[in-house]
Amino acid sequence: MSQKVWKIGVAGLGTVGGGLLQFLSERPEFAPAGGRVVVTGVSARSRSRPRSVDISGLTWFDDPVALATSPETDIFVELVGGSDGPAKAAVEAALKAGKPVVTANKALIAEHGAELAVLAEAAGVPLLFEAAVMGGTPAVKMLREAMVGDEVKGVAGILNGTCNFILSEMEAKGSAFADVLADAQRMGYAEADPTMDVGGFDAAHKVSILAALAFGCAPNFAAAEIEGITGVDALDIRMARDLGYRIRLIASADISAEGVAVRVHPSLVPEGHPLAETRGALNALFIEGARIGRIFIQGPGAGSGPTAAAVAADIADVMTGARRPVFQAPARDLKPFVAVAPTRRVGKAYLRLLVKDQAGVIAAVSETLAECGVSIDSFLQKPVEDAGGVPIVLTTHAIAESVLTDAINRIEKLPAVLERPRLLRIARI
Ligand code: HSE
Repeated sequence: MSQKVWKIGVAGLGTVGGGLLQFLSERPEFAPAGGRVVVTGVSARSRSRPRSVDISGLTWFDDPVALATSPETDIFVELVGGSDGPAKAAVEAALKAGKPVVTANKALIAEHGAELAVLAEAAGVPLLFEAAVMGGTPAVKMLREAMVGDEVKGVAGILNGTCNFILSEMEAKGSAFADVLADAQRMGYAEADPTMDVGGFDAAHKVSILAALAFGCAPNFAAAEIEGITGVDALDIRMARDLGYRIRLIASADISAEGVAVRVHPSLVPEGHPLAETRGALNALFIEGARIGRIFIQGPGAGSGPTAAAVAADIADVMTGARRPVFQAPARDLKPFVAVAPTRRVGKAYLRLLVKDQAGVIAAVSETLAECGVSIDSFLQKPVEDAGGVPIVLTTHAIAESVLTDAINRIEKLPAVLERPRLLRIARI
C-alpha cells in the first residue's frame, strides 16, 4: 500500500521557519498519522541569504500566495509575520483554496482571526496557531481543547519574554530601562525595533487570542488596554521591592457580567508569587476555571526549537484530522465581544510621587486621597540621592480606576508635588 505523503509549503524562513525545516530533517519519522511529511516548497524575502538549513532541493516561490495555492502544497505554514500584507494574503488564499493553514502569526490572528475563522470553517479546513502564543508552551491547545469542559473566568500571565528579560535585568542590576534594552539588543534578545515588545503590543496580541479561546468571543485586539514597559523606572523597581513586590508586564483577560476586559500593564506582583519568580525570557500563565480551579504553565515563549515544536504539533493535528472550531465555538456562534471600559477596573494601585521636602506635604496628599475616597494600604518615604525631590510611594486598597484618576489629577495640582504621580497597578492574581 502506498504511503500518504503530506506536502508542506513553508512561507517565511526566519528563526521559526528555519527551526521547522531543521526539526523535519532531524525527525524524518515525524508522521503522527502515518505516511511521510515532506517540505516541498518554500518562500521567503531573500532567496540567497545564508541559512543553516539546505533549501536547494525545494521549490522556491517568490510569491507566498503562489506557494499557498500550489497543487504541491497540502498544508500551508505561514511564518512570515505581520497582521496584513503578504501573510494575510497568503493565509486567505490558502483557506479559499481549501488548504489547512498553520501559523505562528499572533498579529494576524488577533486582528483578523474572526474573518479568517469564517473562511476556514466555510472551506472545512483547520486554521491552527499554537505557536502564536507562548512559543513552545502549549497555551492555545490548553484553552481550546483541555479547558473546553469548564468555564474559564480569566487568564493572567507573562506573555512577552523580551519585557520579562528587561524587567528581570533591571531588577537584578539596578540598571535603567534604556541601558538594559541596549544590552538586550546587543545579545539578540530584543529586536532592532523593539516597539512591538516593549510597547506591550505583542503581549496584547497574544492575550487577545487567549481571551477569544477562553470566553468564546471573537478576538478583539482593538479593545485591549495596552501599556508597555518603557515608562518603568529603576526607582519603581527598587521601591516596589522595598514594599515586597516585583514588577512584571502582566497580560490579563477577565470575563464578568459586564463583559470582557483585556489588559496589558506593568504591574506589581507579590514576591514569592510564581509570576514574580518567573525571570529572564520565560513566559508563564495562570488559567482560572470555574470548576477546575487554577492551572499554571510556564515555559519558553520564543526561540527556534520551542516555537518550531509548536508548529509541528499543529501540523500533527492537521494530519490526524483533529477537528475543532478555530476559536472556542464555530465562527458564526462566537459571542459578541463586549468590552468593559478601563475606568470600570477595580483594583489595588501603587502611586509614586515626587514632592518638595517640606512640612505638611504628606498631610496634604493623604487629605486629598481621603477626599476622593481612596484608602491607603501602605506608605513609604525614602530619601534618594539625585531624585530632584523626595520620592514617596503608597499603595491603595482596591479602588475604581475612575476614582484613582481623579485623585491623581488632584494630587498633581498640589503645590508641593513636583510631577504627575506615577501609577502602577497591583496585579489581581
Ligand atoms: N518577541 C516575543 C517575545 C516572542 O519577546 O516574547 C515572539 O512572540
